[in-house]
Amino acid sequence: MKIAIASDHGGLELKRVLCGFLEGGEHDVLDLGTHTSESVDYPDFAEKLCRAILAGEAERGILVCGTGIGMSITANKFKGIYAALCTNEFMARMSREHNDSNVLCLGGRVIGDEVAKGIIDVWLKTDFAGGRHTRRTGKIKAIEGENAAE
Ligand code: RB5
Repeated sequence: MKIAIASDHGGLELKRVLCGFLEGGEHDVLDLGTHTSESVDYPDFAEKLCRAILAGEAERGILVCGTGIGMSITANKFKGIYAALCTNEFMARMSREHNDSNVLCLGGRVIGDEVAKGIIDVWLKTDFAGGRHTRRTGKIKAIEGENAAE
């Protein structure tokens, strides 16, 4: 799968670990930065990644900042992006089965490397369950259609 990944300085170390992990799992990784420890603004990187996904440059995306919160707030401003901040594998599975998330947000200062890898494994292999959940995600799409700028 082609996966885009981006972080700010707070998520840089975890992003580095996860790039190696994803490439080892034979995923095609599109690393959109940041690439140095210089302080940057997380919305810039969330925007870059969301636009890449919406343009079809990657199927799914992973965003990492210090807590994952800023990235998730920003990503969910984009129509067609369904970003889930997950701190464990159960949340990752539910975010796919029930919410059909296409962006995973992680907190580099919150979870350890191995926990993050486990979350990603589950998130990548779990399919959307459909059924009653399609009615609910459809309601999200109706709301975003009324309110989102793009
Ligand atoms: C940067 O210091 C920090 O605010 C950022 O990485 C993130 O945690 C924001 O939600």
